[in-house]
Amino acid sequence: MGLEILLMAELSWVEILKSALKNNIKQFKQIISQDTLLCACIKAHAYGHGLIDTAKIFLDAGADWLSVNALYEARALRTSGITAPLFILGYVACEDIPEAVKLDCRVVVYNRETVKKIGKAAQQLGKTARVHIKVETGTNRQGVPLSEVVDFARYIQQYSRIEIEGLATHFANIEDTTDHSYAQLQMQRFAQAADALGTADIRIPLKHCANSAATILFPQTHYQMVRVGIASYGMWPSQETFVSYVKEKKNNFTLMPAFTWKTRIAQIKTVAAGEYIGYGCTYKTSHETRLAIVPVGYYDGYDRGMSGGYVLIQGKRAAVRGRICMNIIMAEITDIPEAKLEDEVILIGRSGDEFISAELVAQWAGTINYEITTRVNERIPRIVVD
Ligand SMILES: Cc1ncc(COP(=O)(O)O)c(C=O)c1O
Repeated sequence: MGLEILLMAELSWVEILKSALKNNIKQFKQIISQDTLLCACIKAHAYGHGLIDTAKIFLDAGADWLSVNALYEARALRTSGITAPLFILGYVACEDIPEAVKLDCRVVVYNRETVKKIGKAAQQLGKTARVHIKVETGTNRQGVPLSEVVDFARYIQQYSRIEIEGLATHFANIEDTTDHSYAQLQMQRFAQAADALGTADIRIPLKHCANSAATILFPQTHYQMVRVGIASYGMWPSQETFVSYVKEKKNNFTLMPAFTWKTRIAQIKTVAAGEYIGYGCTYKTSHETRLAIVPVGYYDGYDRGMSGGYVLIQGKRAAVRGRICMNIIMAEITDIPEAKLEDEVILIGRSGDEFISAELVAQWAGTINYEITTRVNERIPRIVVD
């Protein structure tokens, strides 16, 4: 089926720029050592970019591992023929452990019940299961307390078919601030955990803690593997990370956003001055207003908080008027007389000289870029473009 026919039935679609995704992975490869593995984080539908295609592009660009949140994502990747190492970052329910082992997934562990289940499944399947211990260093999310990490590792060592392949932690406060003292404390605690295991003669080949911000800002966090998410998609983890990077600027790290969300004008109408637009009559026209009716709404992931924003039509800004509905938004095109029915509407991305970044949209919605792209409804097609 041709792209045009495929899109005819679609109210909106997302174009993913392959060269941008490749560029971002290559940028990371340049700042990590050759001996450090690059694990691309593709959870949440590859941060909204489309799981399978993104996985293949990242691997092609040089990613060594892929990380996901849950077993269903790992299953989809294996079904699509991907044989690269897969690391499940999130929780795997005990009943799902046998499948995770069968699919050769690396599972993060922090409780004994899971380890027991993995040991049993590996025995039954005649396989070696590889696990990564998550150590608590201050995020207080998943993790084994620092004081228990050696005992926990010894417990795992009872299972002959389990290999402790990794030791991991995750930063709590590395992208939200330019004061990195808490991140430094977590780095120290992680190093302590590694030392304690070393002293106990428990050898762990892959230590990893770095997300995008840590990888960009702190080479000492790279260890044997980095787990990069947001920046692989061409988005900075935060303004603070960008500012910290620019202040230190040791290299030329340039990111390219890959995500363009498009739709088209479904109707054009002219509304008299003094009319209300949309639910709650929150917007009242002060002049005769030309309106584009756009077939996307909060069901699709265009957050209701974005009511104060704009979309791009013919390379110009068209302000969103009134409240965002479940499936529709209304945008003013009084000053874009050339706009016509079925013209392309850019919700996120570039049109002419104008650019709506995920960060800008996040400001309108009062959230972060991570949430913006991951929230674009999964059923909206992601189309890879060169
Ligand atoms: C455990 C873990 N590692 C790595 C990442 C990647 O983080 P980022 O997208 O900030 O690079 C995430 C994302 O939330 C994560 O939860």
